Amino acid sequence: MEPPQTQPPPKIVVLRWGHRPRDYRVTTHVALTARALGAEGIIVSDVQDENIRKSVDKIVKRWGGPFFIEMGTPWKKAVEDWRAQGGLVVHLTVYGRNLTPEVLGEIKARGKPIMVIVGSQKVPVSFFSEKISDFNVAVGNQPHSEISSLAVFLDRYFEGKELEKQFEGGELRIIPQHRGKKIVKIRP
Ligand SMILES: C[S@@+](CC[C@H](N)C(=O)[O-])C[C@H]1O[C@@H](n2cnc3c(N)ncnc32)[C@H](O)[C@@H]1O
Repeated sequence: MEPPQTQPPPKIVVLRWGHRPRDYRVTTHVALTARALGAEGIIVSDVQDENIRKSVDKIVKRWGGPFFIEMGTPWKKAVEDWRAQGGLVVHLTVYGRNLTPEVLGEIKARGKPIMVIVGSQKVPVSFFSEKISDFNVAVGNQPHSEISSLAVFLDRYFEGKELEKQFEGGELRIIPQHRGKKIVKIRP
């Protein structure tokens, strides 16, 4: 008998609020974390910063995708559009309910594509409201960062399987080694 087919979990898109151009590496690292750990793309809301777009596009060209980056959309419009299309919104915040198996189970039970909002300093208080977020989730109730909270959330959501994801269309691939570095060119 065929083993039962398990459906992949619904897709995840990240919304980064509060990008500061003088700190562009933080948002770039949020985007690279989102890509590497299974999200489909990132919306960097409210601002345009070509440094980020260039860095992300370069990584996707070299190492593969698909992964999209959208910039400048006002956060409220991005959230409202997402919810109007039937998506769920999970706001990561130190003040939320801790990311226990129970909370993760509630999120997964909705069976909807997820927008994960990560903030910056002092997010608008409306992020916590029912109009904006379906879940306010903490990755431990201790302050750390948008990068680490996103990484842990994605890894718990995808149950570690995102680490085996095959990226498409890149130029380079790493051949894992016990020691040293091995990179092969798979496309010119
Ligand atoms: C520098 S922190 C700001 C902490 C802020 N006081 C808050 O409202 O969470 C920037 C972002 O990191 C994320 N973050 C930091 N610690 C977190 C935690 N323990 N759980 C979930 N997200 C966290 C949140 O998305 C937050 O907006």
